[in-house]
Amino acid sequence: MVDVGVARSALMTDGAEHMVAPVDMPRRLWRGVTLATFADAGSGGAGADQPYGLIENGAVITQGSHIAWVGRESELPAQAAPDEEHDGGGALLTPGLIDAHTHLVYGGDRAAEFEQRLQGATYEDIARAGGGIMSTVRATRAASEEELLAQATARATVLLHEGVTTIEIKSGYGLSAEHERRSLAVARRIATQLPITVRTTSLALHAVPPEFAGRADDYVTESARWLRAQHAEGLVDAVDAFCERIAFSPAQVARIFAVARELGLPVKLHAEQLSDSGGTAMAATFDALSCDHLEYLSADGVQAMQRSGSVAVLLPGAYYMLRETQLPPVAGLRGGGVALALATDHNPGTSPTLSLLLMLNMACTLFRLTPEEAWRGVTVHAARALGLRDRGRLLPGMRADFALFDAGHPRELAYRIGGTPCRRVICGGQDVRRS
Ligand code: NIG
Ligand code: FE
Repeated sequence: MVDVGVARSALMTDGAEHMVAPVDMPRRLWRGVTLATFADAGSGGAGADQPYGLIENGAVITQGSHIAWVGRESELPAQAAPDEEHDGGGALLTPGLIDAHTHLVYGGDRAAEFEQRLQGATYEDIARAGGGIMSTVRATRAASEEELLAQATARATVLLHEGVTTIEIKSGYGLSAEHERRSLAVARRIATQLPITVRTTSLALHAVPPEFAGRADDYVTESARWLRAQHAEGLVDAVDAFCERIAFSPAQVARIFAVARELGLPVKLHAEQLSDSGGTAMAATFDALSCDHLEYLSADGVQAMQRSGSVAVLLPGAYYMLRETQLPPVAGLRGGGVALALATDHNPGTSPTLSLLLMLNMACTLFRLTPEEAWRGVTVHAARALGLRDRGRLLPGMRADFALFDAGHPRELAYRIGGTPCRRVICGGQDVRRS
C-alpha cells in the first residue's frame, strides 16, 4: 500500500503543467474494476507480478490530477475517505492510451491517390510526380487556421472517445515558415479545446517544398531558422524528419538534429520505411527518443537502437495501407531489448485511421506482437517514445489519465476488430467522457 506522501515523493514530472496536485484537491475513488496497471518488477507497483499488471477487483484513488493509490479493493486504506466514489461496474480500467505518432493537422484528403495506388501506382511514383505529401501541403496551405483547428480537433475527439488521453502531433504539411508555425500553433490549440495532452513535433523536413526544388540543403538551412523561432515561441516539444531516398538523407537530417540538440529538444525519426537509408544509426548518435516505421531496418540498425535506448514505434496502419510486404524486424528488436511502441500514424496518405485500438489488433495479426506487447506499446512504451515519465502506467504519483472499457481482460481489445468499447475517459482525474 502506498500513501499519498510516498506517491508525491515518487512523482516524476516533465514540466510545471504536470506537477502533482496540492493535497486539498478532491480525492476520488474508482472501484469495481479490473485494473491493467502495466507495473513491472522495476517499477514495483501493484500488479507487477501479473501479466499486464492485472488486478481483479481493483481500485484506484486519485487526488486532483494524479493517482494516489492503486491496489485491490479489499486492501483499500481505511483512511481513504474519498470525496467522490465511482463504481466501475466490472469495467477494465487501463492507463489512458497514448498515440505517440500522428500527423493530425492537415487539409484535404487523398482518396483519389488511394484509387491510383490500387490501379498500380506506387507511393514513391506519386510522390515523385508532385502528389503524395505535396498534394496535402497544397490543401493545408489553402485552409484557414480555424478550418485546420476544427478538423484536427474533430480527429482528436475521435481518438479521445476511444480512450486516448495523450497525442503527439507533427507539423510537416506546411513546409514554409508561416505554414509550419501555423500547424504547430493549431496542434497546441487542440489542447485548449479538449482535455487531452498534446505533444508537438516539428517535421519541416518531411518533403522538399516546390520553392526549394533542387535545393534541399538550402531548405534544411532555412528550416533550422524556423525551428529556432518556433522554439522561442514555445511551439515545439521535439524534432522529427523523414529520412528516405524520396525525402532527406541522414547527413541532411543530422544538420537539423544538431540544431535540436543545441536547443535542448529531443529528436525522433521516420526511418527505414521504404528502404534501408541508414537513418536509424544516425538518429542513435543523437539519442533519439524513437525511430518510427522501421520495415527495412537492418541488424546493425537494431544494434544502434539497442545502444541508444530509442523506442521502436511500429505503425501497422501505414504498413497495411501501402500493402507493404517487408515486415519490421520484430524478433530482432524484441531480442535486443528494444522497447516496442505502436501508434496510428494518422495522416491522409498512408494511414487514414483514427483507431489506436485497431492498431493493437493489426500489430498482433500483421507483426506478431503479443497482445501484452501491443498494450505496452500504447501505454508505457508510447510514453517513453515521447519522453514522458509521468504516465503510461497506473502507479501512485502518475497522472490520473485512464480509460474504462467494456471488457474483462485487455487481450479482448487486441482481439476485437473495430467497435467502440470505451465507456469512460478520465483525464487528469476528471471524468471527461461517459457513454
Ligand atoms: O508517416 N512517411 C512519411 N510520412 C507519413 C506519410 C505522409 C503522407 O503520405 O502524407 C508517414 O507515413
Ligand atoms: Fe508518420
